[in-house]
Amino acid sequence: LINAVGIDDIAIYSPGHYYDLADLAAAHGIDPAKYTKGIGQERMAVPSPDEDIVTMAANAVAPLLSDGVRDAVSTVIFATESGIDQSKSAGLFVHGVLGLRPNCRVVEFKQACYGATAGIQFACDLVRQRPAEKVLIIASDIARYERGSEGECTQGAGAVAMVVSANPRLIEIHPQSGLFSLDVMDFWRPNHRSAALVDGKLSIDVYLRSLTEAWADFRRKGGLPLDAVDKLCFHQPFTKMAKKAFGALAEAAGPEAAHLGEASYADSQVYGRLIGNTYSASLYIGLCSLLDNCAENLGGRTIGLFSYGSGSVGEFFTATVRPSYRRYLRADAHRTMLDARQRLDDATYAAWFYEVPKQVEDRALPQEAAGRFRLAAVEEQRRVYEEAI
Ligand code: CAA
Repeated sequence: LINAVGIDDIAIYSPGHYYDLADLAAAHGIDPAKYTKGIGQERMAVPSPDEDIVTMAANAVAPLLSDGVRDAVSTVIFATESGIDQSKSAGLFVHGVLGLRPNCRVVEFKQACYGATAGIQFACDLVRQRPAEKVLIIASDIARYERGSEGECTQGAGAVAMVVSANPRLIEIHPQSGLFSLDVMDFWRPNHRSAALVDGKLSIDVYLRSLTEAWADFRRKGGLPLDAVDKLCFHQPFTKMAKKAFGALAEAAGPEAAHLGEASYADSQVYGRLIGNTYSASLYIGLCSLLDNCAENLGGRTIGLFSYGSGSVGEFFTATVRPSYRRYLRADAHRTMLDARQRLDDATYAAWFYEVPKQVEDRALPQEAAGRFRLAAVEEQRRVYEEAI
């Protein structure tokens, strides 16, 4: 008997190097408070030349692979908007380097920062149909804008991996959700570009409109009132955006939201402030941050989640935290990983973030990655991944 379907396990990975936004402010000759207070970011994670969405994903997935998971994975969904191949799913490289079982389907999902939420919803429905199966959802992205642009301070890199199953240990996902889609050019990246293009102010407006419209759709369909919600978790391109989102939702919901304040989303911002935007992974790194960092026991509490992907799709849904969730968190490993990171100087940051994507020729890569998996070489235009020594 299926009592619930949802997230059974979650792990995050972010590279072992970061660029401090105080250094970016100095380089731009502006007040660092614009970034730390105005945008709400402290650091951006920077992938080394031998890291990409596949290595970050493999590092996030590896801790989840107990025998029970390996044997039951029927589907691997890889959400990204910084794909490394126009044809082959990044998930297949992860499948290879981690030795996942051959009898499963592997696919890449793309819709800007929203892809992983489509993945979660599809995964929950697959598991409702066949409760013995587990679905692995990975979201991995490198958020890159033009050097010197307004978006540069929101850059970042990271991955999240989740197992969706019946009777999950962490979070039950409720079947109701509210949706809002619109064909709009607020943020996009044509195929020939490695950096995104963005109309920053428009993107904020469309995000907020999508939130209130998706929430209204959720309520029309019989979704829970905000009275019944204890915590909120928003897609976080930068942590200040969660504050703007909360303001817009509270205004739209009126008295239903009266009991909610900054404390309802503050714990979801801890990791994002140190990592930066991770596009498709950002909402779920925020969810992991909330579970890992909330001092209150969230068992039995309900979370409202809002996923937004420019272009655009918004989805609002709710989930209930399972009673014994704390036993299964990986909070110590996540904190240790973030604490161990090394600060980069300007020249190395610029070289790794802006010059590396231009390298398309065959090459061997020196080891810089701090994680367990790395890109070792490109041989005859084939990417070769390996477990680091
Ligand atoms: N001290 C304290 N605060 C300061 C300050 C200072 N010295 N100087 C400025 N600020 C504040 C401003 O008052 C402002 O606050 P509010 O937003 O609360 O009004 C904040 O810092 C930002 O200042 P600006 O509006 O002047 O910032 P900007 O024009 O340079 O750019 C941005 C901000 C548009 C978000 C830009 O960073 C950007 O384009 N980012 C990328 C796009 C993005 O993240 N969009 C979000 C929605 S789209 C989405 O969510 C999908 C996705 O992941 C991309």
